[in-house]
Amino acid sequence: MTLDARERLIVALDLPTVHDAEQMVSRLGESVVFYKIGYQLAFAGGLPFAAGLIAAGKQVFLDLKLHDIGNTVQKGVESVAQIGATFLTVHAFPQTMKAAVEGKKGSKLRILAVTVLTSYDDADLAAAGYDMSVPELAAARAAQARDMGIDGLVCSAEEARKLRDIAGPGMVLVTPGIRPAGAATGDQKRIMTPARAIEAGADYLVVGRPVVEAKDPKAAADNIVAEIEQASGR
Ligand code: C5P
Repeated sequence: MTLDARERLIVALDLPTVHDAEQMVSRLGESVVFYKIGYQLAFAGGLPFAAGLIAAGKQVFLDLKLHDIGNTVQKGVESVAQIGATFLTVHAFPQTMKAAVEGKKGSKLRILAVTVLTSYDDADLAAAGYDMSVPELAAARAAQARDMGIDGLVCSAEEARKLRDIAGPGMVLVTPGIRPAGAATGDQKRIMTPARAIEAGADYLVVGRPVVEAKDPKAAADNIVAEIEQASGR
């Protein structure tokens, strides 16, 4: 993959209003070219805002984690594809993934599958009726995602090496839980520095608070890009 270091940093706009997001994007300027929009902002005017970002030349990852009956997912993905986003997340259930692959046809949208939410442990899976451990289910779903033509996986940097073996070179791995050395960990438990995540095989790093809550967000982003550049050799 020949990605420029700057394209590999995705800043999570986990902010309450479009106004806050606009201010952050303007402070970050040319330092950030890729943004993630999740539930909080998406349901507060973030989808028209996403279209504006794309029109301004940025790339957008819509972290909407879709999961519904196939027909509904397919139609929803067709609508998301018209916004012009680069990435959209769905839960890694076979029907959902199949419908999402169908829905994005003919667009440049790429579908990322969330294998098992990182807040789930084996007890949560048992309570939900699964007779499998988290690593077993994550590996099985990653293989299904690959076989169904899903474009990539969201995973922790710790899982990246193992999932790369399953996914092969063609799928993108997108990893949150990134903390530059010295940054506050917040509620993230499984964290890695940008350089270590790149070395583990991540293609894209999702970073939220270490950038948006930094005193100087632009400098924080530039430092992460420099670290990616150093770790990847470009
Ligand atoms: O602020 P922080 O860097 O922890 O933000 C990480 C972003 O990645 C948040 O938007 C969070 O919802 C998302 N995410 C995560 N862990 C996952 C999946 C998504 O932290 N397993």
